[in-house]
Amino acid sequence: MEKFSSRFLFENKKNVPEEFNKVARRYDLATAFSQGYQDDLNRSGNLLQLKGDELVIDLCCGTGKSTLAILPKISTGKIICIDNSEGMLAVAKEKFSKEIKEGKIEISLQDAMHLNFVPNSVDAIFMAYGLRNMPDYDLCISNLHRILKTGGQLVIHDYSLSDTWYSKPLWMFLGYGFIVPFCTLLSGSSTIYIYLVKSVSNFLRPSQIKSLLENNGFTNVTIMNQPSWRRPVLHSFRAVKK
Ligand SMILES: C[S@@+](CC[C@H](N)C(=O)[O-])C[C@H]1O[C@@H](n2cnc3c(N)ncnc32)[C@H](O)[C@@H]1O
Repeated sequence: MEKFSSRFLFENKKNVPEEFNKVARRYDLATAFSQGYQDDLNRSGNLLQLKGDELVIDLCCGTGKSTLAILPKISTGKIICIDNSEGMLAVAKEKFSKEIKEGKIEISLQDAMHLNFVPNSVDAIFMAYGLRNMPDYDLCISNLHRILKTGGQLVIHDYSLSDTWYSKPLWMFLGYGFIVPFCTLLSGSSTIYIYLVKSVSNFLRPSQIKSLLENNGFTNVTIMNQPSWRRPVLHSFRAVKK
């Protein structure tokens, strides 16, 4: 059915949450086989310089693997985990039942393009594998800038192909040779993984993400590479609100 094809998803991102709902229960299993998945998130989470008492948003938190990367950095503060897939959030809710009871984590079903926060109210935002799914990157980043306090930090972590000639062929090889067949086998659905490969190959390059952040009022933008085969395809960006 056209509505559920990866092409439709790619062109109309509003159906992305439905596809994540389908794979939610198997998501952690599929990522457990993805080399370095949690370590890469931990490295990006460490880019956030936190004292521990901050209000932090984990935007597009999914099942909470990105939340695990920042949780040790929060002592008296709070993490609000936001996603628009009920299925992914249900898994996160189970994972963090203790922290939710303690008031350290809050789970919130929201669309990242329409966040319900007053301006200048958030200390930090971590967005892992989220920006690429947004229908309008510019609007998303300007909204994040608006809700952050002055001096607030944003860390973006996503697949973004570097300018080296081999980054795209490497990604296509990894995507169609490993990610799609393997994750389809583990999760029982191929649509979201074909969409992943297509959306990455058409996503912004690291230098474009840097410009996107600077054009929306962020400063001190730094880019970090991840190790091994992820070096040309996976990047993290830290930016501060002026
Ligand atoms: C690849 S998962 C990443 C999950 C998690 N951050 C991690 O690192 O494992 C992307 C997540 O983005 C969520 N997402 C996509 N579009 C969204 C939107 N417009 N608003 C909120 N969440 C969205 C999906 O539901 C999915 O859970």
